[in-house]
Amino acid sequence: MKWIASAAFGLEGITGRDLKRMGMENVRVMDVGGAEFEGGFEDAFRANLWLRTCDRVMLVMDRFEARSFEELFQGVKKLPWEKLIPSDGAFPVRARCVRSQIMSPSDVQKITKKAMVERLKQAYGVDWFRETGAVFQVDVSIRGDVVTVCVDSSGEALSKRGYRTWNGEAPLRETLAAALVLQSGWHPKEPLYDPCCGTGTLLIEAAFIALNRAPGLLRKFAMEAWPGVDHAACEEIRREAKSKYDQCYQRPLHVAGSDIDPEAIELARRHVRQAGLNGRIELEVKDLRDVTRPGEPGVFIANPPYGERIDNVRAAHAVARQLGALQARNPGWSLCAFSADMGFEREYGRRASRRKRFYNGPIECEYHIFEADKTDKRGVIKK
Ligand SMILES: C[S@@+](CC[C@H](N)C(=O)[O-])C[C@H]1O[C@@H](n2cnc3c(N)ncnc32)[C@H](O)[C@@H]1O
Repeated sequence: MKWIASAAFGLEGITGRDLKRMGMENVRVMDVGGAEFEGGFEDAFRANLWLRTCDRVMLVMDRFEARSFEELFQGVKKLPWEKLIPSDGAFPVRARCVRSQIMSPSDVQKITKKAMVERLKQAYGVDWFRETGAVFQVDVSIRGDVVTVCVDSSGEALSKRGYRTWNGEAPLRETLAAALVLQSGWHPKEPLYDPCCGTGTLLIEAAFIALNRAPGLLRKFAMEAWPGVDHAACEEIRREAKSKYDQCYQRPLHVAGSDIDPEAIELARRHVRQAGLNGRIELEVKDLRDVTRPGEPGVFIANPPYGERIDNVRAAHAVARQLGALQARNPGWSLCAFSADMGFEREYGRRASRRKRFYNGPIECEYHIFEADKTDKRGVIKK
């Protein structure tokens, strides 16, 4: 079976690399949308459980060209839906069209549904489907007249890990937070500190990475209700993941953060508890101007506020300057900041060593990585 591990713009490469590390077959990073791989249901289950930067794992039913509704109808109707969907299965359809002859998602949705009903009516000899059983969310995407028909094995987006029940001001999606930690150059033996931690997403994702905790350990996936899936095998995969985490839980962890807003810290504490990390992440209410980290240097990581209104823009610029000062007074520390503010580096006071472009929902953002200054044996900064 062919699968797509869908991922947001900029995260496709990390998703593909993680699939390869997991030993998946024929991994191919797509130009847009994620990475493809091949495998059985158990491989897909493993991908759902372990991929940190992927939104959904989708079973590819087919890919074909269609320039008319008739071609779409016939292309969908010829697929062996009865092999996957039982007679009581629910099969809602969602659709997306990009630069194609067919550009109406609502028509694509209706035509796909009709073609599936026709096929399943013939297969099951009934003319009415109650759709009360397991959910097979069908996903049709038409891009440049090529139709990709998939079934979503994840259910709720994989960014929903199960620990975040409350959202503070502009929280980061968990998948994006994990990508930012993975790209920061942080090694889990070093300290990591978020001085604008909000509801704690970056810190929790960093702890999951350090403790080898599967991000999907606390949640279920749609495919677990599918009749064709070996449930005992999936449970075994989950048990294995749980035992890996149990083995690593006692590892030393140097992950901490603060925020100026007491309510945000309250939410962060709640999320840390819900993630099962009580007592493992240090949190406090603090203005970032008062943050200094004595001891071993490490990585500061932050998703500072950015504003669209002019007074918010001024405040965001002030935070960028304070972050620059934070790195300057903590020699040996690198600092990674994820911001939509295109003037960020100017305010920060130096050029980033590396930068990457990602989207936070619809907002284009840049990830600025300011590496630590290198010093010689006498502690003098090398230029
Ligand atoms: C975009 S939010 C961070 C969201 C966070 N990544 C999350 O997942 O919830 C920016 C945070 O910066 C905090 N902040 C703003 N100015 C600050 C300052 N001077 N010191 C510390 N935190 C500050 C805000 O309270 C807010 O929680």
